Amino acid sequence: MVPQRRCQRVRATGILVLLLTATFVTPAVGKNISTLPIPQQGKASLTHYDLTLGALASCGCSTGSTYFPTAALSQAAYGSSLASGPACGQCFNLTLLQTYGATPEWLLNDEQRRNASVVVKITDKCPAPPLYDPDKTWCGATASKPNKAGFFLHFDVSSPSPAIPLSFFPVNASYGYNDFGSWIVDFEQVPCERWAGWGNQSALGLDASLTTQSGCCPANPLSDNSVCPAFSLKAAASHLRIAPTAAALVLLAFANSLVFIA
Ligand SMILES: *[C@@H]1O[C@H](CO)[C@@H](O)[C@H](O)[C@H]1NC(C)=O
Ligand SMILES: *[C@@H]1O[C@H](CO)[C@@H](O)[C@H](O)[C@H]1NC(C)=O
Ligand SMILES: *[C@@H]1O[C@H](CO)[C@@H](O)[C@H](O)[C@H]1NC(C)=O
Ligand SMILES: *[C@@H]1O[C@H](CO)[C@@H](O)[C@H](O)[C@H]1NC(C)=O
Ligand SMILES: *[C@@H]1O[C@H](CO)[C@@H](O)[C@H](O)[C@H]1NC(C)=O
Repeated sequence: MVPQRRCQRVRATGILVLLLTATFVTPAVGKNISTLPIPQQGKASLTHYDLTLGALASCGCSTGSTYFPTAALSQAAYGSSLASGPACGQCFNLTLLQTYGATPEWLLNDEQRRNASVVVKITDKCPAPPLYDPDKTWCGATASKPNKAGFFLHFDVSSPSPAIPLSFFPVNASYGYNDFGSWIVDFEQVPCERWAGWGNQSALGLDASLTTQSGCCPANPLSDNSVCPAFSLKAAASHLRIAPTAAALVLLAFANSLVFIA
């Protein structure tokens, strides 16, 4: 009864098998994954997930970013099915409005909402079904079909973490449990100057272990006009299509350099 659905994360070795299958079986056609433009503001669903402190996530953002508020974004809005995508590095101000899936739903009052905002940076992908989310729940929205809660965007925020402890989420004693798990939020794109990690060099940019071929994490993408390309498009357009064996080796090297690919 307590909705605790979280986006599944897959160990790099697990995803490698899928990548290899995709490489061999499906000829890569230059198909655009980024089919879902992100509005300036709107409503979305939100859950939280465990991202280990110091871990590398899908964008390849500096591991120092994990000490500040970060989130995974649902795949179509994230804009790539592989590695980094156009949403990487973007910052959003999220404000909790009400629970999703509680009985009855709990609508926060104005004062409670004032305490329930956080600016997150997108550092990870929340994978779409069918490969990663067989329940077709949170992160499988497409441009024409919303997720199970009726939203086109889903944020999976990294919590508990030093930046977003579980105590960030309001508790209502009358429900008899502490973690509602899923919420409906207002989101607004904001400049990353408003992100808590801004000004901390160790939290910004691409991780030192990666190159722009394997990740992308602009410090302030909308202001810098430095939006990431979709890695899956680059992969489809490149030699990966012609030389699956070489591609497998590249992907193996890439996968091994990541703690998680989500
Ligand atoms: C993918 O998107 C890019 C940038 O919007 C566009 O130039 C390109 O034509 C698109 N490719 C396909 C196959 O739709
Ligand atoms: C985030 O949004 C809330 C609600 O609109 C607002 O009160 C708060 O000032 C915003 N925070 C930032 C850093 O923009
Ligand atoms: C707790 O939830 C109930 C049911 O949604 C609501 O009526 C009540 O106002 C909430 N309590 C607080 C302190 O917000
Ligand atoms: C808002 O946060 C402050 C500081 O943590 C706390 O004292 C206050 O009780 C909170 N207000 C609500 C309505 O939760
Ligand atoms: C940057 O963030 C890290 C991790 O929270 C912290 O240890 C370090 O002191 C911060 N550096 C500055 C200059 O704030």
